[in-house]
Amino acid sequence: MSTPDDVVVAEDLRRTHGRGATKVAAVDGISLRLPRASFTVVLGASGAGKTTLLHLLAGLEAPDAGTVTVGGVDLASLNEASRTVFRRRYIGLVFQHSELVPYLTARSNLLLPYLLDKRDPDPAWMDRLTRALGIHERLEQLPGQLSGGEEQRVALGRALATKPEVLIADEPHGNLDVRQGEQVLRLLRSTTDRFGQTVLLATHDPRAIGFADRVLVLRDGVVAHDISSPDVDHVTGLLAS
Ligand SMILES: Nc1ncnc2c1ncn2[C@@H]1O[C@H](COP(=O)(O)OP(=O)(O)O)[C@@H](O)[C@H]1O
Ligand SMILES: [Mg+2]
Repeated sequence: MSTPDDVVVAEDLRRTHGRGATKVAAVDGISLRLPRASFTVVLGASGAGKTTLLHLLAGLEAPDAGTVTVGGVDLASLNEASRTVFRRRYIGLVFQHSELVPYLTARSNLLLPYLLDKRDPDPAWMDRLTRALGIHERLEQLPGQLSGGEEQRVALGRALATKPEVLIADEPHGNLDVRQGEQVLRLLRSTTDRFGQTVLLATHDPRAIGFADRVLVLRDGVVAHDISSPDVDHVTGLLAS
């Protein structure tokens, strides 16, 4: 049963890539629900279908079959222009590369979603968020003047600036060193604990297991394991098998 507390509901999603002999069922029948204020980690080897699944859930790609609703809105009911606006307001996105605008300061990058929406930022929220992310003293810097970890934290701030229903992050710490990578994982966890943020994180990094409420192990486009309150050793064993 779907409840209003399920922020994301996906039913039997399917998506193939390529055609002919190279056709791949990247997502091959996935259903899932993400309850509000939960932290879900999607684990799987390269090619398992993680990015395709996240793109479908964010409405960046359309499924061949199946449905996605975010905050009760069926993404297929929106045309492309309204989907872009919807995404900006309700879905925060973070990728492996921070994709900050290089000629704008960290502050301007953070405020970009508001500018694009012609809305006024909430100064109290921005202050709380940038302090929580540990970037409030770096806001006048350009992205090129920040460390990789700082850049990713600004990207995280930009994704959270408008308090999206769901934060979808695709290997956000893939390019960072161990310490900075852990910082990003800890921050994602704390956005759920402190701000009630619903987070979906895809990675092939088993360290993420220890931060998750739930782990979905993807294999060949299907959910091979769905584990609540995951135990690191147990899940690592499943990954190796
Ligand atoms: N644009 C594309 N064109 C053709 N094949 C693709 C494309 N994107 C992904 N694939 C294929 O779909 C499968 C799943 O890829 P992806 O979703 O990127 O997995 P992951 O993020 O887990 O590495 C892989 O076999 C990949 O080669
Ligand atoms: Mg990927």
